[in-house]
Amino acid sequence: MHRFGNIDSRMPAASEPSHQPVLLDAVLAHLTHDDSTLDSGQVIVDGTLGLGGHAAAILERFPETRLVGIDRDSQSLELAGKRLAPFRDRVTLQQGSYADLPTLAPDIRPTVVLLDLGYSSWQLDARGFSFQTDAPLDLRFDPGQGTPAEALIRRTPEPDLADLIYRYGEERASRRIAKALKADPPSTTLELAETVARAKPRRGKIHPVTQTFQALRIAVNDELGELERGLPALEGALATSDPSVGEPNGGRLLVITFHSLEDRIVKRFVRDSGRLKAVNKKVIVATREETLGNPRARSAKLRVAERNDADSR
Ligand SMILES: C[S@@+](CC[C@H](N)C(=O)[O-])C[C@H]1O[C@@H](n2cnc3c(N)ncnc32)[C@H](O)[C@@H]1O
Repeated sequence: MHRFGNIDSRMPAASEPSHQPVLLDAVLAHLTHDDSTLDSGQVIVDGTLGLGGHAAAILERFPETRLVGIDRDSQSLELAGKRLAPFRDRVTLQQGSYADLPTLAPDIRPTVVLLDLGYSSWQLDARGFSFQTDAPLDLRFDPGQGTPAEALIRRTPEPDLADLIYRYGEERASRRIAKALKADPPSTTLELAETVARAKPRRGKIHPVTQTFQALRIAVNDELGELERGLPALEGALATSDPSVGEPNGGRLLVITFHSLEDRIVKRFVRDSGRLKAVNKKVIVATREETLGNPRARSAKLRVAERNDADSR
């Protein structure tokens, strides 16, 4: 478990590490049934804490509730710890994957679990998750686990690398790109961008490496595998509904995704789960105003589901 160090309680200023939480109003509006409040016995899990943007707003909105914040990236947890210092008595931080919630926090039955998938703006700027700045080609959220992207490229046979880039990046030029990467394996983010740009000339505004970068990040962190493994684990942990004891509504799962591969997994899981009911039939997306102020919000999709044990009996 992570402890708060000797930290100050200021909110991040513009020059400090920052990340603007996406769909914040929609998240706050969907945390509870009928906008009801949460009391001190209730726990919220932020399974992808990042810099604690959503978490801080949730803790402010519900002054009684406790929050468990999880992230694979220990540096993000450190930064979130500083941001959440004003709420320190109600917050527990854990390094790990949200998919391991049942072992990280075995005794809790959360009223809400929030996932805001992918990477934060801070990771983009400071942790080498961008091909705009040069950094070692790693792309792991937790540098203590798994295989860095550089080694993955060296180790993976060309046809498998092409498949990976095609599947996770939805990249049509995957064969050409895999061939170029195997011929001259990159060690840094800029080398990767240059090699891919040579194999696939730029068309339009989007940099040719964008999809390959996404594919490598997803593969290195097994992001889709974690989601497939995590959703049933989180569903099982959620507070149950039981109308016979006055609890008609079970816990809620809120998931924000950033590309169709993730969204498809969440949509199918909710549809096929015997215990979850979709709260929003139509996926929630950002308003035009939000996307103007925060371009990251453009591809964000929020799905909300509620545990309903009565109907599954
Ligand atoms: C979009 S950011 C979250 C931002 C956060 N909601 C905020 O407002 O600051 C996603 C975070 O999820 C973390 N992450 C990615 N996969 C994870 C996993 N399987 N388990 C836990 N954290 C994960 C990343 O390290 C990153 O910090």
